[in-house]
Amino acid sequence: MPTPPIPPILTVIAIFFLSLTPASQSPDTCSQAKIRDPQSLRRDQITVVMNGFSEERIPLLQSLATAYSLSTLVSSVLVLWGNPSTPPRVLHQLARNLSSSSDGSITLLPQPSSSLNLRFLPRPNHIKTEAVLICDDDVEVHLQTLEFAFRIWSSNQDRIVGLFARSHDFDLNRKEWVYTVQPDRFSIMLTKFMLLKSEYLYHYTCGGGKKMTSMRRLVDSVRNCEDILMNIVVSEVAKVGPVLVGARRVRDYGDARNDEGGEGYGGGGLSGRKGEHRMRRGWCITEFHRVLGRMPLRYSYGKVVDSVGEQALCNKRGKLVYCDHSFLDN
Ligand SMILES: *[C@@H]1O[C@H](CO)[C@@H](O)[C@H](O)[C@H]1NC(C)=O
Repeated sequence: MPTPPIPPILTVIAIFFLSLTPASQSPDTCSQAKIRDPQSLRRDQITVVMNGFSEERIPLLQSLATAYSLSTLVSSVLVLWGNPSTPPRVLHQLARNLSSSSDGSITLLPQPSSSLNLRFLPRPNHIKTEAVLICDDDVEVHLQTLEFAFRIWSSNQDRIVGLFARSHDFDLNRKEWVYTVQPDRFSIMLTKFMLLKSEYLYHYTCGGGKKMTSMRRLVDSVRNCEDILMNIVVSEVAKVGPVLVGARRVRDYGDARNDEGGEGYGGGGLSGRKGEHRMRRGWCITEFHRVLGRMPLRYSYGKVVDSVGEQALCNKRGKLVYCDHSFLDN
């Protein structure tokens, strides 16, 4: 896949931000999370951490957060509001609306900045489960899919379990890493739906020494790639790629295809236009690789689906075909 060259401005921005201290990591956050006893975490439920930014998407955010909160699998929903310029009046109303629609299991947490690293704070006061679902405010997932994903995660607790997969790849001509979608393999799960061990939040925010610090700063400088970095953190520990679950029904309001027509919920998020987005993410992979001196991302293949679905063969006009298809292609 051809990628346009990285404009020097990105590098300049990165260097500028490398000299700033991010607000996302305070020594307090990390020491509190460290002393928590892992045995005290609940194993049978999930904490949902949903990111909100766009005021125009509030009605959708509210319906998604409410739907999650109604599942018996969900212990609580944290809505991280990452847009500091939203008027306090709107946030008060949203907080009131969320608590009235959920008997108190949804908490709105306005964030001090729009840093994407805040999505992965360990938050020991709020996250009391072993599993955390990191998700966006524009993806509607069937609760059966959530339950299935949790079952799959329960037997793959070291790995990220997700519904949206992407891939890293090496461009031999340009000699740099690219971000792409491949038909047969993947190495990156998107934060649209990412189920993982809450311990990894601690690894992301507090672990990894100077290298992690500079990679987290890079995430702040490009306002992107936090999901790629989390996939790196997890692959380093698990030594194996993520798990992709087949969703029964999922509606992605943030999908680029929804941008056409100019209405609805598309286009309000942080990621820019498609090409630039891809290019930035390729650049992130190249930079993470440079900082680490190796490529920890691992490929996985195939998708886990929630039925054994033995395929019967049917005779259709003298040819053997899968029975499902013989009804479909008429
Ligand atoms: C809160 O709910 C009211 C009544 O349904 C609605 O009119 C308003 O737009 C909501 N506001 C926010 C910020 O969620």
